[in-house]
Amino acid sequence: MKVKLLTVFCFVAVVASAQIKTSKAIVASMTMEEKARLVVGMGMNMPGITLPAEMSGGPVVGQTQTRVPGAAGTTADVPRVGIKGMVVADGPAGLRIMPDRPNETQKYFATAFPISSLLACTWDTQLIDKVGKAMGNEVKEYGVDVILGPAINIHRNPLGGRNFEYMSEDPYLAGKMSAAIIRGIQSQGVGTSLKHFALNNHETNRNTINVKASQRAIREIYLKGFEIAVKEGKPWTVMSSYNKLNGTYTSQSRELLTDVLRGDWKYKGFVMTDWFGGDNPVEQMKAGNDLIMPGTTKQYEAIVNAVKEGKLDEKVLDINVERILDIMKISPSYAGYKYSNKPNLVAHQAVVRNAATEGMVLLKNDNAALPVAKGKKIAAFGNFAYNLVSGGTGSGDVNEAYTISLIQGLENAGFGLNKNIQNAYEKYLKEEKDKQPKNRSPFMPPPVINELPVAQLDMNEALTADLAIITIGRISGEFIDRKVENDLNFTDAEKALIAAVSEKFHAQGKKVVVILNVGGPMETASWKSLVDGILLTWQPGQEAGNAIADILSGEVNPSGKLATTFSVKYEDEPAAPGFPGKEIEDKTGHTLGGFMRSKPAEIEYLEGIYVGYRGFDKKNIVPAYEFGYGLSYTTFQYSGLKLSSPTFGKNIVATVTVKNTGKVAGKEIAQLYLSAPVAQLDKPEKELKGFAKTKLLAPGESQTLTFTLEPRDLCSFDDTTSAWVAEGGKYTVKIGASSRNILLQKDFTLPKTLVVEKVNNVLKMK
Ligand code: BGC
Repeated sequence: MKVKLLTVFCFVAVVASAQIKTSKAIVASMTMEEKARLVVGMGMNMPGITLPAEMSGGPVVGQTQTRVPGAAGTTADVPRVGIKGMVVADGPAGLRIMPDRPNETQKYFATAFPISSLLACTWDTQLIDKVGKAMGNEVKEYGVDVILGPAINIHRNPLGGRNFEYMSEDPYLAGKMSAAIIRGIQSQGVGTSLKHFALNNHETNRNTINVKASQRAIREIYLKGFEIAVKEGKPWTVMSSYNKLNGTYTSQSRELLTDVLRGDWKYKGFVMTDWFGGDNPVEQMKAGNDLIMPGTTKQYEAIVNAVKEGKLDEKVLDINVERILDIMKISPSYAGYKYSNKPNLVAHQAVVRNAATEGMVLLKNDNAALPVAKGKKIAAFGNFAYNLVSGGTGSGDVNEAYTISLIQGLENAGFGLNKNIQNAYEKYLKEEKDKQPKNRSPFMPPPVINELPVAQLDMNEALTADLAIITIGRISGEFIDRKVENDLNFTDAEKALIAAVSEKFHAQGKKVVVILNVGGPMETASWKSLVDGILLTWQPGQEAGNAIADILSGEVNPSGKLATTFSVKYEDEPAAPGFPGKEIEDKTGHTLGGFMRSKPAEIEYLEGIYVGYRGFDKKNIVPAYEFGYGLSYTTFQYSGLKLSSPTFGKNIVATVTVKNTGKVAGKEIAQLYLSAPVAQLDKPEKELKGFAKTKLLAPGESQTLTFTLEPRDLCSFDDTTSAWVAEGGKYTVKIGASSRNILLQKDFTLPKTLVVEKVNNVLKMK
């Protein structure tokens, strides 16, 4: 008995001393090889994916399958010093792990939450916090330490293949929303990885492209969201991006990872590479990219040899290791957390459905086409009505248990369906799917199935329905960008379907509504006049059909507003010229093959800071649907804008009252834009500096919303002095229901120019 007690006591003492040991002390007790082991991940083994040799650079060091199958990677165990490696898995629309494990009947499904582009359209940080909590619970209960998200690269061009994983064209909105989801996830005791840092705004040649941008555009547009998320969300980790920025791979850029991230922003977590990102592990260590993922033998050896040859100071390695240890020590794996493998998936269904309805955007609703009374009979056209897309593909995909189709959702809500039309689609889709190749990569979008030709539909019989709904879908993901023809623009078959259905139904005085089940903007200008209503549902996660039915029936009044502009035509896009860059001769640059195909290339962000609505405003181009736009089944009145002072002191507080003047309860998103005086620096016409969503206001009910402007909110980045500067003069606070529907405005004065913050003069255009 005595011996037993002593053993228990000794064990507890070892664990306790490991826990109270500082990371510095642990580093001091590690060999150089152990340190090198820790900064290079354990490799990766994804069933169904063969890595091209040039990506792995030799055999991978290990595989993740033994810990959490389907996770993206792990860090090494160093048992001698009591270190248990961490497990990291994608992100960002939910946890991506394999649902099946060999010789097991249990399924390891995770919840497919709505895509980030939808979440941003909720403009609701409290709601996003709840989504984060649910996601974080799944991360923890499936034995994962860090989820690889959120992703907040700017929606620079609508063709960006991964835009669905990102939030907005506006850095302020993207920053605030991602800070909220980081807080929600991390409140569960697991970490996040804010990605892809930075300027990875499209997929073509993403692993080798050199993005050339001005210091001002980098700071004001491309880093601003990351800055907000880092300062307010405090993510455990940041993931550097694949691309070069002004000549240097971001994972090898000391200017970006040390001078900006740690210096200017005081970031305390660690940085990991994107998978196989960059081309020089030693430079990555020196730059402050602490962890190389997923990790190869070659990278490990390069680091060990560099230290031995005096090319890498071991002290640099010590700092990288210490940063990783600081996070490891708060991770569930380190604490030996006994995860259940049974997160509360059922409870999360309601979170998905609620978030999905809050982020859908009603683009058009002529003569109150929507809502539709339950019990009405609907003819559901469009392939995607029978196969809704819950989210995009690639690493942003989630292995969920189910996705509710539109048909199921409508039936669950008590709508009638035209069975003839339904049968025609179901038969057609089955035949087409049977023709598809069986062994395609699970990472890539499925082959497109052309719209069922209208000629094959019994349109006269369809008219027994009270209303027509046409669902148009898109799916995109990693590795490839979208195209203008047959993607951003509708296909001929889709246009023919809309024209034929509208003609038939309108001839009988019946309404036609289009549902856009997409991951990014679509061209709408050429066909929108043909239909009565357009509901942008995005890719709304696994409760898709139920959430759409909630909006169609009026069970939920739509309140989402666009976080990204929908242009009239692609040529209007501020970042269309030069997209997606050009391939160049570069003998020193590396190329990648296989599905990661990437060649040396470059792109210059010619539009500077005039991205999204800033660009449309500057050129005075009217978009189809502007940033911040979205309709409701009710109406709102804005009144009583007050500023706390006519002169800017420490800050300015603006208050405004929003009243529901319609007949049904609803929520409104009020937006604060600021127009700054133009003195030395050119300025956008206006920029988003605040937003607030009301509670559910009953008809006649009002709410007063408050916004606070801090000195940094008045600033532009002056790259001649490398400082955030608020120029003296007249500022106008503009309160709007969208960026082009400004309802109230008031001026204040900043008596003299303020240099609010001086930062490191780095990342010059090369
Ligand atoms: C993606 C990352 C992802 C990683 C791990 C990369 O291809 O760019 O976003 O987290 O893979 O799956």
